[in-house]
Amino acid sequence: MRHQVVIIGAGPAGLMLGRLLEIAGVDAVILEQRSPEYVLGRIRAGVLEQGSVDLLRRVGAGGRMDSEGHLHAGASFEFDGDALRIDFAELVGRQVMVYGQTEVTRDLMALRCAPTIYGAEDVALHDFGGAAPYVTYRKDGVEQRIDCDFIAGCDGFHGVSRASVPAGAITEFQRVYPFGWLGVLVDQPPAADELVYAHHARGFALCSQRSPSRSRYYVQVGADEKLADWSDDRFWDELRARLSPKVAAAVQTGAAIEKSIAPLRSFVAEPLRFGRLFLAGDAAHIVPPTGAKGLNLAMSDVEMLGDALIEALVERSDAGIDAYSARVLRRIWKAERFSWWMTNLLHVFPDGGDFGRRIQRAEFDYLAGSRAAQQSLAENYTGAF
Ligand code: FAD
Ligand code: DHB
Repeated sequence: MRHQVVIIGAGPAGLMLGRLLEIAGVDAVILEQRSPEYVLGRIRAGVLEQGSVDLLRRVGAGGRMDSEGHLHAGASFEFDGDALRIDFAELVGRQVMVYGQTEVTRDLMALRCAPTIYGAEDVALHDFGGAAPYVTYRKDGVEQRIDCDFIAGCDGFHGVSRASVPAGAITEFQRVYPFGWLGVLVDQPPAADELVYAHHARGFALCSQRSPSRSRYYVQVGADEKLADWSDDRFWDELRARLSPKVAAAVQTGAAIEKSIAPLRSFVAEPLRFGRLFLAGDAAHIVPPTGAKGLNLAMSDVEMLGDALIEALVERSDAGIDAYSARVLRRIWKAERFSWWMTNLLHVFPDGGDFGRRIQRAEFDYLAGSRAAQQSLAENYTGAF
């Protein structure tokens, strides 16, 4: 088999890249180790920046998002029960779209993307440092080989693509946080019209939503906590204890339809090109979810990678692929800084002590009193950088 581009991973990054290449007439194939049902079962991001919204519309995947997603002009930030609304629309003239990653994935899957081979086992990348790279995998017990011009590693943080790069060729920058997020999805109306990010002495909490009848909530938990120790009742009690009385009273509880714990980490690999292999999305970087940037970064990475590959394969110019790594890394580090800052402001750090919490309070008060600080938050949150 031969294709111009082999994309590893059918998450949002791989599917979007497959769609962009398909539209440009580039012959690509996607290899995904899991089944479509498994990919759709992962409940993750919920907030789309304007750039992601525009890209989804441009590739023909915006129809359901526009009818079922919700534009939010602002969000609330709380500190020990004191609330501050940040008005994105008024401050920077931008909004965000609340629409689940699961639905983005479903909408992309329904389009003609590059052909996708699900259940591809033991994917291995070969000779990407030379002129004739190829990828091998096993499907239904049969070994397969695909020769190609380029490989796009869109296979998430634990994927094979980054792991295939020789250690001396890559530098990794990382911070692992001493806590995770316990998330619950519930079929109940949201507690507030907009998202609520809360810092409380007991830890961080977030009220998000998927639709007028489905809510998504998160609480900060210790890094080594077990899901089995969190009954639904314990979760609801803890969530309400961390919110202002008004929002807490509006939380409508119910049986969790999904419950999971995600660790928090900041991570960047540099560079993002190794000969004929390119990394994009969570394969290249991780942000802690606080700033709602992961899915959006994945979208902006593949938008640039798509343009670069099309330039190389259709226009026969290497300018785009030569510039890819440096271009996306500039945006990635901006998102890393913002996500780190939001995480530091809103979480309780086990070794932060009283001094740490006083500094966090001072930061919140500064935000409440400074239009410039609010503008900076609004710019970063809505992706206007
Ligand atoms: P993934 O979605 O991880 O997709 C990678 C794909 O590659 C997967 O389908 C995987 O099965 C496949 N794969 C892996 N290894 C192999 C292999 N060896 N061979 C073949 N296939 C392989 N982001 C936001 O923007 N906003 C948010 O509000 C937000 N909230 C989040 C909340 C939580 C709790 C979590 C965990 C994440 C959140 N994120 C958020 C981050 C966002 O979900 C990710 O950044 C996004 O999924 C990245 O997409 P991706 O396609 O790069 O990677
Ligand atoms: C959601 C996740 C986030 O990380 C975030 O910052 C906002 C919303 C969500 O899953 O809805």
